[in-house]
Amino acid sequence: MKILILGAKGMLGQELVKAFADMGEIAAWDRSTVDMARADELSGKITAFMPDILINAAAYNNMDKAETDEAEQAKAMNSNVVGALADMCQILAITLVHFSTDYVFDGIKTDGYVETDQPNPISVYGETKYLGERLLRMSGAEYYLVRTSRLFGRSGASMGAKKSFVDSMLELAKTKTEISLVEDEVASPTYVVDLARAVRRLFDDKRPFGIYHITNSGSCSWYEYGKKVFSLAGVPVATTAVLGSSFPRPAKRPAFSVLKNTKLPQLRPWEEALQEYLRERE
Ligand SMILES: NC(=O)c1ccc[n+]([C@@H]2O[C@H](COP(=O)([O-])OP(=O)(O)OC[C@H]3O[C@@H](n4cnc5c(N)ncnc54)[C@H](OP(=O)(O)O)[C@@H]3O)[C@@H](O)[C@H]2O)c1
Repeated sequence: MKILILGAKGMLGQELVKAFADMGEIAAWDRSTVDMARADELSGKITAFMPDILINAAAYNNMDKAETDEAEQAKAMNSNVVGALADMCQILAITLVHFSTDYVFDGIKTDGYVETDQPNPISVYGETKYLGERLLRMSGAEYYLVRTSRLFGRSGASMGAKKSFVDSMLELAKTKTEISLVEDEVASPTYVVDLARAVRRLFDDKRPFGIYHITNSGSCSWYEYGKKVFSLAGVPVATTAVLGSSFPRPAKRPAFSVLKNTKLPQLRPWEEALQEYLRERE
């Protein structure tokens, strides 16, 4: 069994490499192996390696820049590259694993989103991820499309890998005694180690192809999330709850984007996973 992981030095990608390590021959590619924007080079390398499974953990993730001056880069990576990968996987009979986000939903529903709910993105980033989903579904490839939210874990080793909210908060607390956090945006934090293992189980348990929602269980606002980080880490910082509207950001965020998982066993509560991560990062 040959497994190719793209974005292997990103926050999630590096955990996927570990979770799939004993399943077969792993190729872990990052930007230094191939710039995925170069379509011909990417397809040539994939054809030469010819994996049985392709896991795409690479993405354009800067939500606010996507809304302003980098919409084209976001669309290229989150939509066009995904469509091209899916078409290749269909032709070459490769199973594709791809990741999407709670931000494909508008956040208006008050009891969370199930796998079959209709996306309705309210940001450019969300639109580019949703277009990627549609191109994947239209391709006819065998796929696992995994929607997830608010990832935390060890920061990726690649140049542009995103720092998680947890690490950003702990960094901020080194220079601030009081931190304001948004209370009217609610979703489920997810530990990348738990997510990567759950993706591996899709294969071990021979789950049917399709869309899956995988997050740690429970949900919280950014305010509750931040407070929990500081209390578990023993960092003495005062926190204030504020409305999202008091932080003017270019991209709109959904108010309530909890992903309901109706197909798989639930993962452990996010607070428990957070505690483990904080212990491990010491
Ligand atoms: N982080 C979250 O809170 C969150 C929430 C919901 C869904 N997701 C989804 O989960 C998946 C994993 O996210 P993550 O947080 O692990 O992201 P990440 O840490 O930012 O990693 C993304 C990786 O993609 C690579 N990449 C981007 N453009 C590339 C290109 N042209 N060629 C080669 N590599 C390229 C980046 O490499 P460079 O560093 O070199 O640019 C980076 O290593 C993504 O699909 C994301 O949309 C994430």
